[in-house]
Amino acid sequence: MNNINMGNIKILIKGKKALSGSVRISGAKNAALPELAAVILSSGEFEFSEVPRVEDIKVMYKTLQNIGAEGKFSANSIKIKIPEIRSSPVPRNIVETETSRASILILGPLVARDGYARVSLPGGCSIGDRNINFHLDGLRKMGAEIDVKDGHIIAKTTGPLKGIEYEFPWKTVTGTENLLMAAALAEGTTILKNCALEPEIGDLIDLLSKMGADIEGINGDILRIEGKSTLTGAVHTVIPDRIEMGTYVIAGSFTGNEIVIENAVPEYIDSLLDILKQMGVNLEVDENSIRVSSNGGLRPVDVETRPFPGFPTDLQAQLTTLLTQSHGLSRVKENIFNNRFKHALELNKLGTDIKIVGDTAIIRGKTDLAGRGITATDLRASAALVLGGLIAEGETVVANSYQLLRGYENMPQKLQALGADIKIVGVGNE
Ligand code: EPZ
Repeated sequence: MNNINMGNIKILIKGKKALSGSVRISGAKNAALPELAAVILSSGEFEFSEVPRVEDIKVMYKTLQNIGAEGKFSANSIKIKIPEIRSSPVPRNIVETETSRASILILGPLVARDGYARVSLPGGCSIGDRNINFHLDGLRKMGAEIDVKDGHIIAKTTGPLKGIEYEFPWKTVTGTENLLMAAALAEGTTILKNCALEPEIGDLIDLLSKMGADIEGINGDILRIEGKSTLTGAVHTVIPDRIEMGTYVIAGSFTGNEIVIENAVPEYIDSLLDILKQMGVNLEVDENSIRVSSNGGLRPVDVETRPFPGFPTDLQAQLTTLLTQSHGLSRVKENIFNNRFKHALELNKLGTDIKIVGDTAIIRGKTDLAGRGITATDLRASAALVLGGLIAEGETVVANSYQLLRGYENMPQKLQALGADIKIVGVGNE
């Protein structure tokens, strides 16, 4: 897949160093992923900037090369086009990690452009059940014949896909993106109801519109798409990553830290900023930056994860680490995924007091943390553990830190620049 040995990557942190200075937010991984998949919809040329150079994106880029993409990924820019689809399955090893869940995003665009797609079935996932039934239901309604066998999804259609009216039974981010892309190249009008509203979907709509798609938002979560027979290439800048933004805002909220988050879009993380205000964190919010500091005395809160604009599941683990430093009992209820508390066990090894009762983490603070060896289980959990290491006394070693590299651009380097004593080992040269 690439020349780093995923299993050997570790992050070493010597905690208790105050963070200060400024940090610039990278482009959003979860916007760039569907936007790279959208390249499949056209034979034209695309130029993307602010693409985060993270492992999940490198895998998606490779996936596109496997189906005939020509291009260049240099620094944070991607120039790419797919003059002709070279039908090839997404190799199983690529589809086994969370990364690969993103490969489901190529299903809609591939069948819409080429009439055939073969994608490995995403397997289980470390954060809980990750169903794709709504993706498949929608594509079937559009006229694709879909078989799921031998670990693969095979989708076929003889003519163009047809416009449909479809209501998602439950909000799904990649489900909305997949059907949106397929509908952009389908024949006739598609109405999608109960769509997810995450900013990454707005950015995808922006890209699709530049490609010539006709998409209109009606009444909040209803989208109307007039299908086109061809779409063009486009030039696009990926929006800033709201989860990276939120992670650094949380990092600045620990006692004694004062940092400025630049290239921020504060309204993407209003739900987090509201919670931090309740906790007593000092926030100065400008149009493109957030200054965050804390003098201690953090108050506990009760929080639930929700689809956007609610509090995001992708910041649940990082907020949990912060709540271990507030005085009193906090509760964090996870409503999106059914197994997203693995970080709690690891944090408890550092000395936190977190109990999991069903879908809720009960956090008793404030606890003093002491560094030791812990293991990252998924991308956002790894960020939560790094935050734990930053506040722990002594050395924390986070094993399986490949997880962090999947979605955070240069996090150890960015934290070093803020004054943290942190290094990553086991990463070769690209
Ligand atoms: C996206 O995953 C993100 N991934 C995830 O980010 C994020 O955690 C998640 O949305 C929720 O915000 C990308 O954008 C690439 P969902 P996705 O479909 O689209 C159920 C990260 O750390 N569901 O919105 O796979 C599903 O089981 C990652 O960056 C169905 O039942 O999530 C889950 O309970 C992790 N049937 C809920 O909906 C379906 O067909 C939400 O999942 C689809 C989903």
